[in-house]
Amino acid sequence: MNQEIFTKVDNYISNLLATEDEILKQTINSLDRHNLPQHSISPNQGKFLQVMIALCNAKNILEIGTLGGYSTIWLARGLPENGRVVTLEVDKNHAEVARENIVKAGLENKVEMKVGKALDILPTLIAKNEVFDMIFIDADKPPYTEYFEYALELSRPGTLIVCDNVIREGKVLDENSRDEKVLGVQRFNEMLSRNNNVTATILHSVGVKEYDGMAIAVVNR
Ligand code: SAH
Ligand code: DHB
Ligand code: MG
Repeated sequence: MNQEIFTKVDNYISNLLATEDEILKQTINSLDRHNLPQHSISPNQGKFLQVMIALCNAKNILEIGTLGGYSTIWLARGLPENGRVVTLEVDKNHAEVARENIVKAGLENKVEMKVGKALDILPTLIAKNEVFDMIFIDADKPPYTEYFEYALELSRPGTLIVCDNVIREGKVLDENSRDEKVLGVQRFNEMLSRNNNVTATILHSVGVKEYDGMAIAVVNR
């Protein structure tokens, strides 16, 4: 077993069940054109998020970390007509590229982008008593624990919280790691293991992206 077969099988699944249209392909192409990192979720991960949306009957979604809007488009398309995604992005250039892609996708009415540091914006959402059915955490890794704690305050029983990149090619096993991203998700995973407010697990996955994992947590009744 090697990366080659994981990539082929991931493509096999996405060709069957998560086919990208021109808008999604152009969104990925726009990243290179504007010098944004290729850190978007994969097509199959996009479809996975849509399955999660259907499962929890989500209408309101919060996303932390927009990049070029690739995951935002998958999320918004998974919502009913009256659904909405609030997405947070700190980088003005990323936000501009994302806005273009979201407009091209015809989703500007379903997506509300807020530009600024997530740690500054999240308290303003709490002050407005916003409550989300699903929350996707995918921004910078060091404050993942804090993002999750804010996410809980923006939740109700049954809210689904999904957090990307919590395995990082297995580097989470390295107790001596000095990589701030690894340290961030190690601290997050530890917190998750002690958190009695959620029922949680981590799905790790191989495929077209690097070996990694997503934490899945449902807020308890
Ligand atoms: N969810 C996207 C990928 C996000 S990559 C997708 O799958 O398509 C992570 C993004 O988080 C980057 O665009 C980065 O600029 C943004 N980010 C980093 N730090 C942030 C912060 N403090 N607040 C909000 N966004 C942040
Ligand atoms: C990184 C961030 C991501 O959101 C991702 O999906 C992959 C890598 C990173 O910052 O290294
Ligand atoms: Mg990610």
